[in-house]
Amino acid sequence: MVVRKAVIPVAGLGTRFLPATKAQPKEMLPLVDKPVIQYIVEEAVAAGIEQIIFVTGRHKRAIEDHFDRNLELEINLEEKGKEELLKIVRDISDLADFIYIRQKEPLGLGHAILTAEPAVGNEPFAVLLGDDVMVSEKPAIGQLIDVFERFRCSVVGVQEVPEEEVSKYGIVGGREVDEGIYKLDELVEKPFLEEAPSNLAIAGRYVLTPGVFEALRNTPPGRGREIQLTDALRILNGREAIYGRILKVKRYDTGDKLGFLQATVDFALRREDLRNSFLKFLKKRVREEIEDGGDDK
Ligand code: G1P
Repeated sequence: MVVRKAVIPVAGLGTRFLPATKAQPKEMLPLVDKPVIQYIVEEAVAAGIEQIIFVTGRHKRAIEDHFDRNLELEINLEEKGKEELLKIVRDISDLADFIYIRQKEPLGLGHAILTAEPAVGNEPFAVLLGDDVMVSEKPAIGQLIDVFERFRCSVVGVQEVPEEEVSKYGIVGGREVDEGIYKLDELVEKPFLEEAPSNLAIAGRYVLTPGVFEALRNTPPGRGREIQLTDALRILNGREAIYGRILKVKRYDTGDKLGFLQATVDFALRREDLRNSFLKFLKKRVREEIEDGGDDK
């Protein structure tokens, strides 16, 4: 069975970015000129996903509007002969079929995924977390779909993290069965370093079998008194094999201020129209900082 659907949870409050996120969703913050959420959707579409299921909450209207037509804007751009912009604006609504489901209470990532069950039904599906922006030749989620097609089991995207970051992530343990592919026997949400089975962290991309819904229904609240997806996957692992694949990507945690700034710089440097002048500015600023002793290393 092919993976056609992707669930993207976007109900979070974005408290790490207040006050910017008081009246707008954190997913709409731009990297250069494109909202973070559009990069995530484009990654899914590039991997063959046809239907995007957003699990949303209150105050997330801007996301729905972004992936809808905006006729007033389109007419205006057409009248002014701004063909290129018109195409950019129109193409967004044609990226995929979009479905929106409300998560009524913030009960955790696992609960958000369970909320999507009526739209997913009884088929394998992808999950992409909106904070993790990934740059790679082959889309990150496509790398996991490859493993799913080989083993017909759930697959989580993992990356090695330094020891001091282990307690920020879901951590997995398992046996390497092929280069960068692990058959998992442990999944722990945000463990203390001493309890972590490895330094392989779950990195915001999953391909899941529909069996995860039954597991989620049986998952008690865990860390932070939330229903954790990692806990449900541990339950699922009692019945079905689960694999982990090291993602060959550059990952940015855009939910974090520093990660967001790093992504902004890198994305700007990748842009033909900005690269040269931005680089010139950066070099000048770094030089000034060093001269002022602002670089304390
Ligand atoms: C979530 C998951 C965690 C995963 C992380 C990746 O945590 O619960 O297992 O490692 O995303 O970004 P959050 O960052 O939402 O706390």
